[in-house]
Amino acid sequence: MGLDTRRLPKMLYGGDYNPEQWDASIWPEDMRLIELAGMNIATVNVFSWAMLQPNEDTYNFETLDRIMDMLQQNGIYACLATSTGAHPAWMARKYPEVTRVDFQGKKRKFGGRHNSCPNSPVYRTHSTRLASKLAERYKDHPALLLWHVSNEYSDHCYCDNCEAAFRVWLQQKYGTLDKLNEKWNTRFWGHTFYDWDEIVLPNALSEQWSEDRTCFQGISLDYNRFNSDGILDCYKLEYEALKAHTPDIPVTTNLMGTYKTLDYFKWAKHMDIISWDNYPGMDTPPSFTSMSHDLMRGLKGGAPFLLMEQTPSQQNWQAYNTLKRPGIMRLWSYQAIAHGSDSVMFFQLRRSAGACEKYHGALIEHVGHEHTRVFRECAQLGEELNRLDTKLLGSRLPSRIAIMYDWENRWAVELSSGPTVDLKYVNEIQHYYTALYEQGYQVDIISYEDDLTPYDIVLSPVMYMVKPGMTARIEQYVQDGGTFLTTFFSGIVDEHDLVTLGGYPGELRKLLGIWAEEIDALFPDQRNSIQMKETLGTLQGTYSCSLLCDLIHSEGADVLAEYGEDFYKGMPALTRNRFGKGEAWYVATKPDQAFLQGLMKSLCDAKGIQPLPGKASGVEVTRREIDGRRYLFVLNHNAQETTIDLGELTGTDLISGQTKAGQVNLPSYDVLIIEHFA
Ligand code: GLA
Ligand code: ZN
Repeated sequence: MGLDTRRLPKMLYGGDYNPEQWDASIWPEDMRLIELAGMNIATVNVFSWAMLQPNEDTYNFETLDRIMDMLQQNGIYACLATSTGAHPAWMARKYPEVTRVDFQGKKRKFGGRHNSCPNSPVYRTHSTRLASKLAERYKDHPALLLWHVSNEYSDHCYCDNCEAAFRVWLQQKYGTLDKLNEKWNTRFWGHTFYDWDEIVLPNALSEQWSEDRTCFQGISLDYNRFNSDGILDCYKLEYEALKAHTPDIPVTTNLMGTYKTLDYFKWAKHMDIISWDNYPGMDTPPSFTSMSHDLMRGLKGGAPFLLMEQTPSQQNWQAYNTLKRPGIMRLWSYQAIAHGSDSVMFFQLRRSAGACEKYHGALIEHVGHEHTRVFRECAQLGEELNRLDTKLLGSRLPSRIAIMYDWENRWAVELSSGPTVDLKYVNEIQHYYTALYEQGYQVDIISYEDDLTPYDIVLSPVMYMVKPGMTARIEQYVQDGGTFLTTFFSGIVDEHDLVTLGGYPGELRKLLGIWAEEIDALFPDQRNSIQMKETLGTLQGTYSCSLLCDLIHSEGADVLAEYGEDFYKGMPALTRNRFGKGEAWYVATKPDQAFLQGLMKSLCDAKGIQPLPGKASGVEVTRREIDGRRYLFVLNHNAQETTIDLGELTGTDLISGQTKAGQVNLPSYDVLIIEHFA
């Protein structure tokens, strides 16, 4: 079952809390400070496996009992973690199979965290058993709100257990070696396999000369799928163990936004609610964070999610751990809410005294009292969130525009040897996202499997891999009146990274009405230009383009712009194919933002999609809605006061209680949440 956030008494506010790392004499002071900050949830037991299980035969829950009781007595919910993100030292010594082998082929010893082999039977047995024991023990504990399985699942393992499991996974997938040889194209470089045991994992010892360059895309792609699935299996085993005792307590694990290694759309199917950890660099553009939130919201069809972690002030693991300037923590917290979060949570509540996170920001800093800038800012936010009450809980962000995103496609694009090392999938998604964001258009990010019919416009930048059934679905969508747009380097391969022969963009050729004959890669400082053949909305004249240029021929599509330079000057750069009642657009190169913003506006205008009110340069807008109530978020990311125009809209700002209308001066880093009615 999902966590229905509408039933929460309040927006969740709190964070990671590790009292077992401290003497218990300090706990009452923790409670006082956590309450003083207006918090109502603590994520506990994240790294306590060694405490809970001092050896193979002994479990000891005494300290955790005290922690859980203390939370309950203080009216604080527990987001209870299962502690399986770091195995105990005794386990690594007794069962060396639990530690991983890294990309270079080095066998790890005990150390660090997130270091357990996902295919180790010992790890799987012990982690599942621990989850089960925790659920059994705390199933009726009144503080228990939510399960938090492991922590930030990540990375890879290349050990012998994983290799054996990979062969089994492949046998299940392909059935016969003939099929596998065909799909991996193993006649290339004489790779034909005659026995399953000849297959080895693709790392630095075998096929891959770096983490994202491989001799065999087919092998590496399957390994990525296998690795994501194997780690997911560990999560699922714990999930089932928890559900056996607590069927009604929702289960999550903290994800990491655009993290590459795990196919989060697949993971989301097994999560009751999405939660994620947001650690932008202080110089990360707000639009990137905004896109990451939208991606996380998209994992479960737009349902509200939880911001599980962010730092109140600074990180420790960046090269330069800049402080969040006064107001930024508050602004970024509201940014999460603006995109669908029903929580604001931190890592962590008390700053640790030793080891590598002692310089990571926390609610309670080393000085130990509440008279700090960070504490004051957290307490102010706590007061504001309490005032919001339940109003925003469960509200959604309706959108008529979707951007498609796919992990396997990303793996394939970035494993691809050629046409350019600079092609990074997330950058291309972000480029399109930004063109909409900068104009105040609300966007959903959806998977390659999601239903397209709720949307007027669907963008799928760099849709390199076309999976089975996709073409028919997209064609139907356009046939029925939808606007679809894709770009250069699309329609090239199938799900095995085998090229769809007969001319690019492969299966999409009919829908797009074009043929891409060649693909030119530009040097980093090289540009071509896009010349509009006629005016299209605000687009006219010449724009710059970079990265890749597809050399295309129209096969029925209207040519709206063409290249301005080089031997392919005059060939199409932007096409539109009328298909049934809809249109399929092709952008043959990477245009500059000016072009893209003009193009997005013209697509939206054609569909009658209006931007949200209140948009200004450096100001972000979103809208959440529930039961006829609407909440316009206006976030000023500028370091100076900015005037915004609310147009016709009048409503009450939930934070200040004031009525807002017309022109409003919004102080630097300030936020409005304007309640109005549909
Ligand atoms: C991650 C982890 C936390 C902590 C923070 C520090 O998000 O989940 O345990 O290490 O990073 O930023
Ligand atoms: Zn392994």
